[in-house]
Amino acid sequence: MHIRQLLWKMLSGTLTGLRLRASDKEIIKLEKFVITGGKPLHGEVTISGAKNAAVGVLPATILAADVCVIENLPDISDVAVSLKILSVLGAQIKMINRNTYEIDTTHLTGTNVPDDLSRQMRASYYFLGALLSRFGKAQVAMPGGCNLGPRPIDQHLKVFSALGAEDSVDYGMITVRAKEMKVFSALGAEDSVDYGMITVRAKEMNGAHIFFDKVSVGATMNGMLSAVMAKGQTILENCAKEPHVVDLANFLNMCGANIRGAGTDVIKVRGVEKMHGCTYSIIPDQIEAGSYMVAAAATGGDVLVKNVTPKHLEPITEKLRRAGVEVEEFDDAVRVRRTGDILPLKINTMPHPGFPTDMQPLMGVLLSVAKGTSTVTESVWDNRFRYVDELRKMGANVQVDGQVAVFEGVDKLTPAPLRALDLRAGAAMVVAALMADGTSEIEEIGHIERGYENIVEKLRGLGADISKVERMPAALDQAL
Ligand code: EPU
Repeated sequence: MHIRQLLWKMLSGTLTGLRLRASDKEIIKLEKFVITGGKPLHGEVTISGAKNAAVGVLPATILAADVCVIENLPDISDVAVSLKILSVLGAQIKMINRNTYEIDTTHLTGTNVPDDLSRQMRASYYFLGALLSRFGKAQVAMPGGCNLGPRPIDQHLKVFSALGAEDSVDYGMITVRAKEMKVFSALGAEDSVDYGMITVRAKEMNGAHIFFDKVSVGATMNGMLSAVMAKGQTILENCAKEPHVVDLANFLNMCGANIRGAGTDVIKVRGVEKMHGCTYSIIPDQIEAGSYMVAAAATGGDVLVKNVTPKHLEPITEKLRRAGVEVEEFDDAVRVRRTGDILPLKINTMPHPGFPTDMQPLMGVLLSVAKGTSTVTESVWDNRFRYVDELRKMGANVQVDGQVAVFEGVDKLTPAPLRALDLRAGAAMVVAALMADGTSEIEEIGHIERGYENIVEKLRGLGADISKVERMPAALDQAL
């Protein structure tokens, strides 16, 4: 039984008579972070592999139809779910160590991704592109992931159909074609989309020329996945240029694909007949690195952030420097130090190489204590200021009007009970709690653990007072 159903029954007093198994106890434990802030972070932290690259590379191993060894995988729940999906599809998976897995996709037995798994993360849509490319068909339930406002997939379907696939999105009662998707989502059909099932099928995949109407990381990566074995050349225009897009292209090329231009607006994919396995190491996580950089700055600390690609961090480094923070770049590390005030900034989130939307909530927390007024414009997602309500509980002075938030800097944040509303909003609350003198508790931390490996240990290594506490609601504990 799902935790929400259980909790609802508990709260509504209808728990009596429920027959629960001992293992349910595991599922319904509520976990939270308890953080006593006010101390500058000091020391060194090592950044893990990039979540958003790993969740593309893992489905891409399907195309190799061979043995791949993937190194530097972050030990996070989105990776665990991706590995589980591969295993359900028939891949043989061997754990070499906590961050390295051998994946043999020679003999796969299925092309349908189980609903419960695909709904656990956004990136399950990459299985559509990979399975379609290798087997000519795939079915994935409408992906889950953070609630950042409408998350349409029309550009993914556009690329699949241009390459020759038929697609259908089953909303429960109605089946709509790709072109109609835009209209449905514009009309606010988000809820019904959540229960949808996406099916793609192709007799033959042929190269095509596709211009994306919107710059999309997911559609660009799915474009490459679905085109690598299509006949002839595919040209993708108006592509996303994020480091994880380049990482996926590098992995696919090491497996024998012929992809040029990843990291620019135009990607050219010449279809190959067969691919093979390889050993590949995932790039460092740009957003995890940026999160520790902001945490160092926000607490007035001095932290060496190791195992990073400083070039990928430039949009973040540039803003931190403008805010008065010292950032020193090395070959594969950055040192972040703050001694003075935080200066106010103007930030506008944009696709790479613009300021990343995933850093926006973290930067918002930093600007909440800047000396003056900052303006933050969110240009990628419709609903990424939900963390502001949590931040207000800590005394922040923020006004949100549509896609723009105005931060009037306050002297300090005060501790409060907080919620992690999504992955990056949750990370932002961790930073806010580290800044506040006193003890804050953060609930719903499962969101944070989807994207940050070992966050408690890493922050403790920097001197933070943070612990993860597991507790069971008293009424439920008695019932079990
Ligand atoms: N969009 C469309 N149609 C589409 C696809 C996207 O209109 O078919 C729009 C979206 O609504 C959004 C914009 O295009 O306004 C960008 O969306 P994109 O497709 O780039 O996002 P995504 O691939 O779903 C990835 C990351 C997100 C990150 C965004 C933007 C993964 C698994 N997720 O999402 O990461 O915010 O790119 O950089 O790679 C996170 O890690 O916390 C996270 C949410």
